[in-house]
Amino acid sequence: MTDDVFYVTTPIYYVNDVPHLGHAYTTILADVLARYACLRGAETYFLTGTDEHGQKVQEAAEKRGVSPRTHVDTMVRRFQDAWRDLHVQYDDFIRTTESRHTAVVRQVLQKLWERGDIYLAEYEGWYCVPDERFWTEKDLAAGNCPDCGRQVTRLVEPNYFFRMSSYQEWLIDYINEHPSFLQPEHRRNEVLGFLRQPLSDLCISRPRSRLSWGIPLPFDEEYVTYVWFDALLNYVTAVGYGADGGRFDRFWPQALHLIGKDILITHAVYWPSMLEAAGLAQPRTILAHGWWIARGTKMSKSRGNVVRPLELTELYGVDALRYFLMRDMVLGRDANFSQEALDRRYHAELANDLGNLLHRLLNMLSSYTDGRIPHPARNADEDTLLQQQCTELPHKVQQLATNMAVNEAVALTMDGVTAINRYLERTAPWTEARAGNSDRVVTVLYTASEALRLCSVLLWPVLPERMERMWAALGWRPPERPGDGLQWGLLAPGTQVQTGAGPLFPRVEQ
Ligand code: ME8
Ligand code: MG
Repeated sequence: MTDDVFYVTTPIYYVNDVPHLGHAYTTILADVLARYACLRGAETYFLTGTDEHGQKVQEAAEKRGVSPRTHVDTMVRRFQDAWRDLHVQYDDFIRTTESRHTAVVRQVLQKLWERGDIYLAEYEGWYCVPDERFWTEKDLAAGNCPDCGRQVTRLVEPNYFFRMSSYQEWLIDYINEHPSFLQPEHRRNEVLGFLRQPLSDLCISRPRSRLSWGIPLPFDEEYVTYVWFDALLNYVTAVGYGADGGRFDRFWPQALHLIGKDILITHAVYWPSMLEAAGLAQPRTILAHGWWIARGTKMSKSRGNVVRPLELTELYGVDALRYFLMRDMVLGRDANFSQEALDRRYHAELANDLGNLLHRLLNMLSSYTDGRIPHPARNADEDTLLQQQCTELPHKVQQLATNMAVNEAVALTMDGVTAINRYLERTAPWTEARAGNSDRVVTVLYTASEALRLCSVLLWPVLPERMERMWAALGWRPPERPGDGLQWGLLAPGTQVQTGAGPLFPRVEQ
């Protein structure tokens, strides 16, 4: 066992939605960060899942004429299939309708009820069904949901409330004392700004007569739990809260919640207050990334501008899409999605810089060394220089990855690839071969192949399938602990390489 524990979560997506590029982004980001952590030798736990209760689901099931249970059981597969197709390897997929989860929700509600943190009162206000959010009159923007601009429904009904207001001062202090709790910094400031207004208590129930598809309150079965109060608790359920104390204590304090900025307040205000009330520790970090924008506005189903990830992967391959998403978004800022930009990066960086490099090396190995990894002779300065540059990469890349600057981690690794290309131009093994300098040929080909192999291990979090193909082409079998592959000198001289497998990133004609 290692001391390095990495627990990463995605939002649990509304099961009604069709997974689009926005959902794919957060999920792939979590997958990439988990794979970097795995290279580091950390014990990792990657959680994703679906949010399956609430009015939206109930209405969709009614419309289809099926029970909510049947509805969610069908819909959830679209997410599970999409993640499998996108080379996402999660450790756990949680559904809020599972009994392991509903038991935790009821347990926490009971605890808060007994502590006097929950009370019954009249709720009068508005509800946004698509976002499943309560809004007051003054929250509304031109009569609509301030968040998504859609129509809201008027609600007047007795409900249960959580005394969130009594945690406001505590929360402000907590955020101030823990600078890395909310990231990036401008989101932290946004939350602190929000907390300058008095916080209201949170309505946490819906009468069963209006909404039956939810978790009944343990202390009043005529009500079901408000879907956000239910959903947020998934993060503790999955690591064994209330069921496996050892696992929970080990993983929970390390939690890294990846979210989009659309759900910042629920995660940075509701959730910490709920945890504090339940006597639980806070997650280590809540990181809100920006939005993928298409045609000038946030990509979303209701705006009709979604990009279906799987349609793009048919053209460019899954790993290329992963690469683009990681390379093009600066965490915390919005990013524009366009197929032209993806196409440009694909051809310049993946097909040319990376794919061609492998191809050239394999061709030279087959022409000059019988298709085998050669024994290097004595290094010249330029060989040592490239070796040095590459052996320094893992540490630098990992540092960027742990600081969640994934785009920079990828860019830096690709700088390594560029350096190998330059090295080949400079050392020109084809000229040395013509001149009969076989010592130079074997040393240069070994150094370049090994440098590429090392970079490929660092690219594996982003391009898992293609890098595994590259390893097969180089005749290299990765060690059991992937991080052990980050040392210099692991390509075994004498190994047969595979030529003729076709380009790693074939050109895409449109
Ligand atoms: O909010 N750009 O689920 P949801 C980037 N069930 N990311 C995007 C995006 C875009 N255009 N569109 C969606 C919910 N996302 C709740 C969460 S968690 C306890 C409950 C991603 O299906 C981003 O991560 O609306 C965003 O926060 C999430 O999908 C919202 O997913
Ligand atoms: Mg949403």
